[in-house]
Amino acid sequence: MQIGVMGVGYVGLVTAAGLAETGNFVIGYDIDQAKIDRLRRGELPIYEPGLDRLVERGQSQNLLHFTERLEELVAQAELIFLALPTPSGPDGHANLSYLWQAAETLAARIQTPKILITKSTVPVGTARKLQAFFDARLPGLVQVASNPEFLREGYAVEDFLKPDRVVIGTPDPTVAEKLHQLYLPYTRQGNPIYIMDWESAELTKYASNAFLALRVSFMNEIARLAEKVGANIDMIRLGMGADSRIGRRYLFAGIGFGGSCFPKDTRALAATAREYGLQLSLVEATITVNETQRAHFFEKVESYYRGQLSGRTFAVWGIAFKADTDDIREAPAIEVIQRLLAAGAHLRVFDPAALPNLQKEHPNWPLYYAKNPYDALEGADALLLFTEWGEFRQPNWQKMKDLLRHPVIFDGRNLYDPALLRQEGFDYLSIGRAPVYAYSSTLARS
Ligand code: UDX
Repeated sequence: MQIGVMGVGYVGLVTAAGLAETGNFVIGYDIDQAKIDRLRRGELPIYEPGLDRLVERGQSQNLLHFTERLEELVAQAELIFLALPTPSGPDGHANLSYLWQAAETLAARIQTPKILITKSTVPVGTARKLQAFFDARLPGLVQVASNPEFLREGYAVEDFLKPDRVVIGTPDPTVAEKLHQLYLPYTRQGNPIYIMDWESAELTKYASNAFLALRVSFMNEIARLAEKVGANIDMIRLGMGADSRIGRRYLFAGIGFGGSCFPKDTRALAATAREYGLQLSLVEATITVNETQRAHFFEKVESYYRGQLSGRTFAVWGIAFKADTDDIREAPAIEVIQRLLAAGAHLRVFDPAALPNLQKEHPNWPLYYAKNPYDALEGADALLLFTEWGEFRQPNWQKMKDLLRHPVIFDGRNLYDPALLRQEGFDYLSIGRAPVYAYSSTLARS
């Protein structure tokens, strides 16, 4: 099929490359000329495992092209995916100004029948509004469909090529059939393609993310109780997850969820409900627990030092909101770092991928950018761990003790075994598990 993708950010680029992978002709458009130039040179604007190979293959087979000229896309594509940013507005609602600008520019250019598909997450009701807009401007030429993405950063290529399910919202059987055909090659193992109405498709996306976020917040709340009663959240997670009705995934307690989806989508869902006079208490509680989980971690550090953070130096491992991405949007590390800086602490930070983004977003923060994880530890009072990168999982304990001023770790991801850390002589404070004071129990804490 002849496909256009408007917006080659995270979702758009994965979609474009993923659709070219099965032989479709795909043309990706973006308003950002620099981004298009880089893509044409074969450089990726984002870090996503496996995406470089996919983009390169698409380009070398002449199936994947990039342009800054929208007319080119409109001339060649019969299906146009809208993958534009929908950031959170101040009241939690998604800001749709990019989407409506795109609709205006498309309406001025479209002359032949097109199927327009919303890919990035848009509030319930958007597809219907878009359809009404095009029906008024270009009667009979444009059919709107909703096709929400379920791409996890770090696994986006896999999620696109082998989706658990594909959700398509359209009232039109011809559009449904066309999109069904488009996605068939990705569901050969038998995963379903569900055709439904616009609103159900749009709400499925929000409900899925909110439910996963709710699981995480639920575990974080139980972790807080576990700390109080002396239970171990890891064992609780295993005990719960083995029940097939619950399942094992998205039960890891930690520093809270971040990224471009869970925080934004939960806020937008709550805002949509309020618009209809409803309060989604579970979704709102999910948001609150997530916010307080970051504070809870900060307070753990603060109370260990009896409120005296000024002048202390901390090593930070991990800035990204999760492993295998350079994305720092709504990353818990950012908020905790901000609070530590405000309290007068010095920070030596390391992340395998996210340091350039940190530098770009917060150029004035007085941080030491470490060259590797061990460089961050040098002379630090303690290590704070925020992201579960693979390379942090089996560190050299002796080297850590040699470099740190005191062997103290605050772990926001429960990466280490408390019994082992006790044996190695660390103070080790993690989430939902009993603290280990193997170091400070041997001396009077300063
Ligand atoms: C999410 C959805 O999974 C994806 O389907 C959607 O379309 C986009 O949003 P992503 O934001 O890439 O993907 O991250 P995900 O892997 O789902 O994790 C979200 C956040 O929850 C991360 O901060 C992660 O660290 C946290 N998390 C996840 C936990 O704290 N515990 C868990 O058990 C799982």
